[in-house]
Amino acid sequence: MHSRRALLYMPGDDRHKIEKALTLGVDCICMDMEDGVALNRKTDARLTVAAALRELQFGLSEKLARINAVGSGLETEDIEAILASRPDGIVLPKVESLEQIQWVSGKIEAAELAYSWPVNSIRMLVDVETAKGILNLKEISSHPRLDALIFGAEDYAVSIGAIRTAEGWEVFTARSLVVLHAKAHDLQAIDLVTVDYHDLARVRGEAAFGAQLGYTGKQVIHPAQVRPVQEAFTPDDESIIKASCLVEAFVAYQKEGKGAFAMEGKMIDMPLVKAAQGVLERAHAAGKG
Ligand code: COA
Ligand code: MG
Repeated sequence: MHSRRALLYMPGDDRHKIEKALTLGVDCICMDMEDGVALNRKTDARLTVAAALRELQFGLSEKLARINAVGSGLETEDIEAILASRPDGIVLPKVESLEQIQWVSGKIEAAELAYSWPVNSIRMLVDVETAKGILNLKEISSHPRLDALIFGAEDYAVSIGAIRTAEGWEVFTARSLVVLHAKAHDLQAIDLVTVDYHDLARVRGEAAFGAQLGYTGKQVIHPAQVRPVQEAFTPDDESIIKASCLVEAFVAYQKEGKGAFAMEGKMIDMPLVKAAQGVLERAHAAGKG
């Protein structure tokens, strides 16, 4: 699965920002046709996104396009405008049911068959960001074309009538449920946007907390947020060394017939070994270790 530590959005009608994104070494570039684009610019966005997909070199960055929600009345034209230009994946916002994913997946499969691309090669990522979406996470997460669940905190807060705060308790339950369902279905979990993009300490703090909750990546909306977010979702050198010592010790103790042992004054058994293996896998996926 593609590494998705930082998923950068930009308005799909803004060719300059799309080109800028190519220079940032960001994991995913998501050209938006939904809420980042004014209603009277939707046609320009469709044309600009399709042209960017065809003409630009994205290098190692994944090329994603976000269409408007199923039921918005804009979704058919959005998806038909961009599929032939072969994005790596489609981001579907405001998902509330499995049927909505099936509808998009059906359109994608028709294109895959028409152009002789491997079926299921174009992936889907879904924004879960409404009360109904959170309640239906179990059915939503089960679709085989999905790679990731994305938590949209701002839309979710609107949908439940919450007031956003710096602490974020008003969105905490939903934020946690998204991780839970993602992990139960072997999906990536991509955390909320830090909208205050001038405050880099804040984006660092919120990214670190997201990683603690089990998120594997975070949405970003400005170039300055890319590096801090990538760092927060990449284990640092000290954690990598600790994790590999722990795994080595585990192997040695297993040979001696011991499942639990002590290391630096702490009891180590299977869950901690698995956590250490997880750190090494994340480091490896980020090209470290
Ligand atoms: N992707 C790529 N490049 C971006 C960018 C983004 N999301 N946001 C800003 N940039 C570029 C600017 O074009 C500018 O480039 P330049 O130096 O070559 O002129 C540079 O980074 C610095 O940008 P800055 O002047 O600090 O910001 P801005 O005032 O141009 O834009 C926002 C501020 C919030 C409007 C902009 O960051 C943005 O559009 N973000 C994404 C919004 C979005 O897509 N929302 C929907 C999904 S949640
Ligand atoms: Mg949203």
